[in-house]
Amino acid sequence: MTYPIMVLSSDDAGRMSRLHARSFDDPWSAMSFRGLLLDPSVLTLGIELYGDLAAFVMVQTVAGEADILTIATEPDHRRKGLAATLIRALVNRMGERGVSRITLDVAEDNAPARALYTAHGFTEDGRRPRYYTSGRDVPVDAVLMSRNMGLPTQN
Ligand SMILES: CC(C)(COP(=O)(O)OP(=O)(O)OC[C@H]1O[C@@H](n2cnc3c(N)ncnc32)[C@H](O)[C@@H]1OP(=O)(O)O)[C@@H](O)C(=O)NCCC(=O)NCCS
Repeated sequence: MTYPIMVLSSDDAGRMSRLHARSFDDPWSAMSFRGLLLDPSVLTLGIELYGDLAAFVMVQTVAGEADILTIATEPDHRRKGLAATLIRALVNRMGERGVSRITLDVAEDNAPARALYTAHGFTEDGRRPRYYTSGRDVPVDAVLMSRNMGLPTQN
């Protein structure tokens, strides 16, 4: 299944915020999203299904390196390959822009996201101990991961 990719704009801040709230314990406000969507260093890709926003990824590029700020798929549409499609599109676009490396951090206990990133060539660089606290009784490490460009995309 192939999904058309859209570049999202500040008009999408509200629906991004709603999708984010269904995916994370620490939701970001529409105002936060609007600020990021207006930032020229930020690129946001999304996929719509049946007219609704089903998934998005947001990346910020600084000094030739791109950092994934957030990625989420609507709970009803998970395991359909949407996030994988977004990561592939992101890697291609970052390659076209001459980005040398894509970085991210992910909670140690987020098995779905870690599996997604590993399948797409991201490897662990280090940890930020006890970094994530939201929605947890015990803080968990942030796993720092990166992918050098020039590697073939997986999946
Ligand atoms: C992580 C997330 C974005 C994955 O989105 P998705 O659209 O369901 O992912 P895909 O269907 O494209 O899956 C691609 C690959 O990721 C891995 N993966 C995704 N969900 C998984 C799960 N629940 N368990 C194990 N592996 C999983 C698999 O390798 C999968 O490939 P496969 O289906 O061929 O096995 C989604 O679970 C989500 O929105 N989670 C909440 C928000 C979040 O944690 N974001 C990441 C923050 S760092």
